[in-house]
Amino acid sequence: MKILVINGPNLNMLGIREPEIYGSMTLGELNGIVAGEAESLGMETEFFQSNHEGDIIDKIQENYGKIDGAIINPGAFTHYSYAIRDAIASVDYPVVEVHLSDITKREAFRKISVIEEVAAKQIFGKGVGSYLEALNFLVSKH
Ligand code: DQA
Repeated sequence: MKILVINGPNLNMLGIREPEIYGSMTLGELNGIVAGEAESLGMETEFFQSNHEGDIIDKIQENYGKIDGAIINPGAFTHYSYAIRDAIASVDYPVVEVHLSDITKREAFRKISVIEEVAAKQIFGKGVGSYLEALNFLVSKH
């Protein structure tokens, strides 16, 4: 089973960025934990991070017909990118939306996800555990 893990804008700053909200783990460390769990589940993983909406859309489209699922943390694009939402709706593989923090308990603008409706599942508030739960969900649906 082949999956893609996409991290959106500012997630390359994990470890430095607002550690009281996002913790002290870097993106490299987070990806290492996700890769380890994926391997134990027999999954092949590719990791991609971008601060650019169009690059994220290109990545989603390029993988059409090539992978069995994806995990995306769209960062702030979660709350307003209809273009990423439409890209997810266009492809044939399930996409799980994840967040490190609990987006329902923060600023009002974070309570809205334009991605949720097209995602196979939305998981938030569990730190790296959100990604691990997403892996297990994708395996169970495969
Ligand atoms: C986030 C939550 C978003 O609101 C924020 O813009 C992020 C990270 C999370 O993982 O908790 O960049 O997606």
